[in-house]
Amino acid sequence: MNKIKVMSVFGTRPEAIKMAPLVHALNENPEIEPVCCVTAQHREMLDSVLNIFDIKPDYDLNIMSPKQTLADITTKSINGLDDVYKKVKPDLVLVHGDTSTAFAAALTAFYHKIKVGHVEAGLRTFDKYSPYPEEINRRLLGAVSDFHFCPTGNNANNLRREGIERGIYITGNTVIDAIRKTVKPEYRFFSDELKALDLNKYRTILLTAHRRENYGTPLENIMNAVKDLVNEFPDMQVIYPVHLSPAVYDTAHRILDGVPRVHLLSPIDVGDMHNLMARSFLILTDSGGLQEEAPSLGKPVLVLRNETERPEAVEAGTVRVIGVEREDIFNNTAKLLISGDEYDKMSHAVNPYGDGMASNRIVQAILHELLRLPPPADYR
Ligand code: UD1
Ligand code: UDP
Repeated sequence: MNKIKVMSVFGTRPEAIKMAPLVHALNENPEIEPVCCVTAQHREMLDSVLNIFDIKPDYDLNIMSPKQTLADITTKSINGLDDVYKKVKPDLVLVHGDTSTAFAAALTAFYHKIKVGHVEAGLRTFDKYSPYPEEINRRLLGAVSDFHFCPTGNNANNLRREGIERGIYITGNTVIDAIRKTVKPEYRFFSDELKALDLNKYRTILLTAHRRENYGTPLENIMNAVKDLVNEFPDMQVIYPVHLSPAVYDTAHRILDGVPRVHLLSPIDVGDMHNLMARSFLILTDSGGLQEEAPSLGKPVLVLRNETERPEAVEAGTVRVIGVEREDIFNNTAKLLISGDEYDKMSHAVNPYGDGMASNRIVQAILHELLRLPPPADYR
């Protein structure tokens, strides 16, 4: 029997975390010949995820360079993937989300007339420059892809409004598949830096920040607001695993080095991250993934951006978009530290992003599209 050849392509930490459950589901399906290719747009941060989820890529383009530009990522990915597609000739290429790797992988597949499945399709802010360049990557991916695996009904409606009618599936987000496997009550941290911290003595605010549109003044505002918060609240500490991007790393260390109760860590592995989230008081972040993970753990999230493409948890009340001004960040965070009522309102667990079955639905949708097997039922 001829199997269908499905190639997963990804390159950054969040893509790897969210593709890992799908890579495993593809590996387990007898109708599918799975192939895994990483661009390694991220190196260390990608390898950490590959390690935790025990994924050994068949192809590794190793494209990362320090302070890489968007053009560097896109051109190196296209050139590398051109060769890989020529050799492997997949029936379907799967890409994830909105990174430059995903866009380049889909465009190159189109050049080879290979079908493209887009995982985490249909997210939109409707603001061309925010997030930058991700909003445009997503819209271009929508145009190039044949199959659109949308986490929510809202995402599917965004695509329909753009005139896309075929190949839309509502699957839930694969990140919920991943987090169901990592969070455990008896979990022990792997990172020595984390092991050395006392999570019982202080209320812990977990911070992450890395978006390109926040480079410069917005990042400085975030760091200064953190300094204001620890000065005002002696019973809290901030744990910040700092992204390896030099634009982020340099700003974070310049402003926060030596500030008492602010702990700047190296990136932590995803098991440590999910379990640290579960043990934190609240989360300050500009990350996309954390906005999806934290609500399922009942942790309030204050988003360090002016918009979000993930309105579902905002509507459910556990996520609030607070912008990137120093005073706004301080005031919104202080409100949750002071008021039990405000905190309680935001800290109920909600799960608008999935039920842990997204990868299975995506595999079923692939088999429906390529082998005419029955389609999956939509998530919600
Ligand atoms: C990328 C994605 C962004 C995603 C983010 C997740 C694009 C354009 N951006 O942004 O959508 O939210 O990943 O983290 O696709 N670096 C290392 N080691 C690593 C990773 C990064 O040294 O393991 C440094 C390198 O100097 C690299 C820089 O970080 O040049 C920036 O990486 P890049 O992938 O260009 O941008 P991110 O901000 O990580
Ligand atoms: N994450 C991690 N270690 C860290 C910081 C984040 O494992 O030190 C995880 C986090 O739990 C989420 C993903 O990385 O699953 C989010 O990645 P990032 O914030 O870099 O990208 P985004 O989601 O904004 O695209």
